[in-house]
Amino acid sequence: MKTALVTGAARGIGKAIVTRLLKDGFAVAIADIGEAAARKSASELANLGEVFPIAVDITNTESVRSMVDQVLERRSAIHVLVNNAGIGGKAAPVVEYPEQEWRRVLAVNLDAVFYCSKAVLPGMLARGSGRIINIASISGKEGNPSMSAYSSSKAGVIGFTKALAKEVATQGIYVNCITPAVIETELLTQLTEEAVNYMVAKIPMNRVGKPEEVAALVSWLASEECSFSTGAVFDISGGRATY
Ligand SMILES: NC(=O)c1ccc[n+]([C@@H]2O[C@H](COP(=O)([O-])OP(=O)(O)OC[C@H]3O[C@@H](n4cnc5c(N)ncnc54)[C@H](O)[C@@H]3O)[C@@H](O)[C@H]2O)c1
Repeated sequence: MKTALVTGAARGIGKAIVTRLLKDGFAVAIADIGEAAARKSASELANLGEVFPIAVDITNTESVRSMVDQVLERRSAIHVLVNNAGIGGKAAPVVEYPEQEWRRVLAVNLDAVFYCSKAVLPGMLARGSGRIINIASISGKEGNPSMSAYSSSKAGVIGFTKALAKEVATQGIYVNCITPAVIETELLTQLTEEAVNYMVAKIPMNRVGKPEEVAALVSWLASEECSFSTGAVFDISGGRATY
């Protein structure tokens, strides 16, 4: 049985991804800073397969190393890493954007994608196989007003995905990212109503997406069926982005 490690998986899109990967037959580690929520989600999903919680702050390299060690104590390898954890951060125009908040958003959304990828890569390289799936955002392609830190961090995730994918393209490791438009999760409660309305108004399907729809795309990216795509940016935006 293959093992998937999903960050920020205690709720929202991450939890939907865990649910789907369990149904696909993976053993899944729910890694989240919310220890109690991760434990609760793991026990709720236990009927679907082998699933276990790991407390981690992905902005801390020690914590990331310990997360990977804990998975490897229990499972022989990490076949799939889904870098899903992310925060919206404060919504404010650039002239008012607090420097500390900028750093916090970049730390969680971008630095940590590098830390977690770096931590699982040695095992993947040694085995000559692995999949890394990064959850970016449409805002990384288009830029959303008042969300400069978030948009920049997600653009960074897209760039990181492409760079890493090319580094390991001949070594059996596939690295892709996806760019959801607005998806119905608790992350939206961190945004202003104005920001959410702005985003929905830009979606031709005129609705928000569901976490399960994102999970279905991740399921394919984690599967053997995805065999000739790497460094790619997969759109899931109800038609908002046609590129
Ligand atoms: N919801 C959307 O509309 C939307 C759209 C595009 C992209 N995304 C991206 O999808 C991903 C998941 O979003 P969501 O809507 O499910 O968010 P969410 O807020 O519902 O869940 C995020 C999870 O990440 C965890 N987390 C936060 N900081 C962490 C840290 N330092 N270490 C470990 N875990 C941490 C939280 O505890 C939480 O469980 C994020 O990367 C987000 O940017 C979301």
